[in-house]
Amino acid sequence: MSFEVPEPYVWDESFRVMYDNIDSEHKAIFECIFNCAKDPKSAPLITKLYDVTADHFTDEEGMMVKANYEDVTNHKKIHNDFLAKIKTLKAPLDAASVAWAKQWLVGHIKGIDFKYKGKL
Ligand code: FEO
Repeated sequence: MSFEVPEPYVWDESFRVMYDNIDSEHKAIFECIFNCAKDPKSAPLITKLYDVTADHFTDEEGMMVKANYEDVTNHKKIHNDFLAKIKTLKAPLDAASVAWAKQWLVGHIKGIDFKYKGKL
């Protein structure tokens, strides 16, 4: 399933998962991708995207484990696959990589994260 990618690339209420800490972290990842798109030649911005995303995944996975969320193993694998791909990205980022990251985050929040709403 594909979801509409916002333009400008900024978090909005349609991405709310109802856990304030997670929503804040998602906003921060949106911001990182926005910044990478604006300045694709910057290697530090790619590193920041990786770090902010990894920290978010750690927090989110911790909440899932604590809540005995049933899909945690599959969800972790999806996170790890994304991080592995981000790790391979090098500046200057090409347009296809930026578009892929934008689409991935939108699809992940709405298609995967939304499944834990009300369960954590
Ligand atoms: Fe919010 Fe599963 O990442």
